[in-house]
Amino acid sequence: MDYIYQANPERYANMQYRRCGDWGLKLPAISLGLWHNFGSEDKLENGRNMLHTAFDLGITHFDLANNYGPVYGSAEENFGTIFEKDFKRHRDELILSTKAGYDMWAGPYGDGGSKKYLTASLDQSLKRMKQDYVDIFYSHRLDPETPLWETMEALALAVKSGKALYVGISSYSPVATREAFNIAKEMGIRLMIHQPNYSMFDRWVEDKPTGHGLLPVLEELGMGAICFAPLSQGLLTNKYLNGVPEDSRAAKNSGFLSRGSVTPERVKAAQELNEVAKNRNQSLSEMALAWILRDRRVTSCLIGASRPEQIIDNVHALDNLHFEQDELDKIDEILSNHDLGESSPKVQAHPWHKSADDDNPKL
Ligand SMILES: NC(=O)c1ccc[n+]([C@@H]2O[C@H](COP(=O)([O-])OP(=O)(O)OC[C@H]3O[C@@H](n4cnc5c(N)ncnc54)[C@H](OP(=O)(O)O)[C@@H]3O)[C@@H](O)[C@H]2O)c1
Repeated sequence: MDYIYQANPERYANMQYRRCGDWGLKLPAISLGLWHNFGSEDKLENGRNMLHTAFDLGITHFDLANNYGPVYGSAEENFGTIFEKDFKRHRDELILSTKAGYDMWAGPYGDGGSKKYLTASLDQSLKRMKQDYVDIFYSHRLDPETPLWETMEALALAVKSGKALYVGISSYSPVATREAFNIAKEMGIRLMIHQPNYSMFDRWVEDKPTGHGLLPVLEELGMGAICFAPLSQGLLTNKYLNGVPEDSRAAKNSGFLSRGSVTPERVKAAQELNEVAKNRNQSLSEMALAWILRDRRVTSCLIGASRPEQIIDNVHALDNLHFEQDELDKIDEILSNHDLGESSPKVQAHPWHKSADDDNPKL
């Protein structure tokens, strides 16, 4: 940490910024998340380099959560250390977010959606991140045991106390999103943004013939959408086309991606998608991100990375966001020809699916 970071003066030249729903706030089309590779078990200098690379490319939004690590809290702590050194003078150029909702500390107040948990957690996050406020604070998941109004009261308090400028929800179903929005509105605050997972391998947010997709609901409510795990944690990159490299997330078996997630069907689909990408002069990850950003209702793709080069590669997605109809048809055909396992018990066990499938929020 013994050199002085000088931000690239050209950093805003090529990044695209999209308005968050009907709101005034704009986010970069590509944002960086600190879920993996920024914890106390990772190399701080690598995390620092990734943050520099991102900011130098115009990525103004960094996404965190209370329990990112491992160990829980360490990604926020490491971010705070790097922020103090390198980004303090750029604070007004940054959008920082954090969340609470999943397991964080022992006892009855360290998990879920209670006002007690969310309020205490935000205070802790601010200390770890060395911030007076965050730009966005999220309810990380729908808690089936907490009335929605209590969780919304916690978000309202965050805004009214000045600890968060904007608030949002993550992995709420379309029905729960509408309920949450209306309850928050009655309390005098508006939910600005939703953070769902969305990738070619998991398309639950899209319009449905039944009319119950998430994206149309967000559009109607004027909310933005920042889509996490757009590369399906690396499955939609060139990483697993020929096996599982030792330095990959799947080999490390941390988080929710394991060797078992790299199924032959998914690899085959990725190989075929890679051929489409090649014809577009894109890498598979570039095409996977461009494909998400083809929908103007999406504000930002929230990527993860383990090294700076991946961020550079991914930002090149913005060089070509246009798809011909026959390319979209080909992609649909490939995706429907393979069992991608979205409905398999293993995938459904992801906590974010459990939350997004819950259409019966406690009122
Ligand atoms: N709200 C929620 O519940 C929730 C849940 C999950 C994530 N998130 C947010 O979303 C962010 C992104 O999630 P994610 O990390 O799963 O997203 P992702 O972008 O789908 O996957 C990132 C991983 O893909 C690989 N990768 C990325 N770019 C690559 C490239 N150009 N070439 C080859 N491999 C590449 C890297 O894996 P290797 O490490 O193998 O190199 C990287 O760690 C998180 O940091 C977090 O902020 C939110």
